[in-house]
Amino acid sequence: MAFGLELSSPQRHRGADSPRVTVVRILVPSETRPGEQRVAIVPQVVPKFTALGFEVHVQSGAGRHAFASDDAYRAAGATVIDDDHLAGAFESADVIASVRPLDYQRASRLRKGTVTVSFLSPVGDIETIRGLRDAGATGLSFDVLPRISRAQSMDALSSQALVTGYRAALVGADRLPSFFPLFMTAAGTIQPAKVLVLGAGVAGLQAIATAKRLGAKVSAYDVRPASADEVKSMGATFVTLDLEALEGSGGYAREMTEDRADRQRELLAPFVAAADVLITTAAVPGRQAPLLVTRAMVEGMKPGSVVVDLASETGGNVEGSMPGEEIKFGEVLVWGAKDVASEMPVHASQLYSMNIMSLLTLTVNEGAVVVDPEDEVLAGCAVVIDGVVRNQAALDALGGGS
Ligand SMILES: NC(=O)c1ccc[n+]([C@@H]2O[C@H](COP(=O)([O-])OP(=O)(O)OC[C@H]3O[C@@H](n4cnc5c(N)ncnc54)[C@H](O)[C@@H]3O)[C@@H](O)[C@H]2O)c1
Repeated sequence: MAFGLELSSPQRHRGADSPRVTVVRILVPSETRPGEQRVAIVPQVVPKFTALGFEVHVQSGAGRHAFASDDAYRAAGATVIDDDHLAGAFESADVIASVRPLDYQRASRLRKGTVTVSFLSPVGDIETIRGLRDAGATGLSFDVLPRISRAQSMDALSSQALVTGYRAALVGADRLPSFFPLFMTAAGTIQPAKVLVLGAGVAGLQAIATAKRLGAKVSAYDVRPASADEVKSMGATFVTLDLEALEGSGGYAREMTEDRADRQRELLAPFVAAADVLITTAAVPGRQAPLLVTRAMVEGMKPGSVVVDLASETGGNVEGSMPGEEIKFGEVLVWGAKDVASEMPVHASQLYSMNIMSLLTLTVNEGAVVVDPEDEVLAGCAVVIDGVVRNQAALDALGGGS
């Protein structure tokens, strides 16, 4: 059975003379989480939503941090909503698109059947899930979107990881007191910087590609054997350790035992010590980030070396790294990532807008938004449908209640 919201109100049709094409109203509110600079839909993508049958409404100022002005939205065909009319816009929206999930207050006041789409964590955003449940609303989340071929264009975790990996390499190059590339000058030869990347998933591969483009000598390690060919195809060296692989389901890594973690750190220590820049991106779905590098390993690096820990917000791959902070361990700088994709809001938002559009394409059906739980992609990413919590991790976090 498909869950949905039929749109039958005559005001929701586009003009009396045109064919009766029903429109679906999508609202893009301003992000409220401090520091969040992205916006869910950028003006360039508004016409694509319109072509799909959406009427795009945007809160005034929602795109300002991503350099998307109200005028640009209007020119693209969107309706700009001022704050006085925001409550009504929330009430009449069929879909609410945001980067971060709505808070409990907003979620719990949604009209029954409203579909929200965002990075909703089934465990971390439990208050929002309660709100959606109480309102009888739906929560689609990119955090749990199945990573199958059909869903690649909707994969916002990947699109934002691409931004993150790119910026990690730039941060490393910026903070390093030396060049990345080889320079052969009249004044002598400068050797290229050595960059070591730990974790060669989407962000790690992009960090490798960016560091290579900047001319560094790059090597990388990952617990998944499949990543070796990807690392080599980027022109980097794959670090092989005498350890068993840790391939889990769905192409993800598995968690390490403490013994293996100790042994991996021991074997990695000389590679870390030789690196000028260390970029760590390792993650295991649903778990704290694995600890790959101890403080002693960092202190074993050359003075002036730089560590960029992209996993800082989820526990850290590097002991002692702090999200959003640059700390010195001896003479080594440790840069802890926080909201990295948000710091490049223009393209991060553009890619995210396309991910939302692709996902919503699956839900639009003859003028209605229909979240069909028989569809593998929608079933995977629907944490809540019409007030019914469906995600097991969310149910567990709610203590078994739905
Ligand atoms: N649509 C798709 O088919 C699709 C989309 C994106 C990613 N993927 C695949 O999903 C996989 C994971 O991608 P991701 O970037 O989301 O991963 P992720 O963010 O979950 O993890 C980042 C990397 O850390 C690695 N890692 C975990 N523990 C480690 C450890 N102890 N030491 C070193 N490295 C460790 C993982 O193997 C992974 O490569 C990859 O195989 C990727 O190709 C598939």
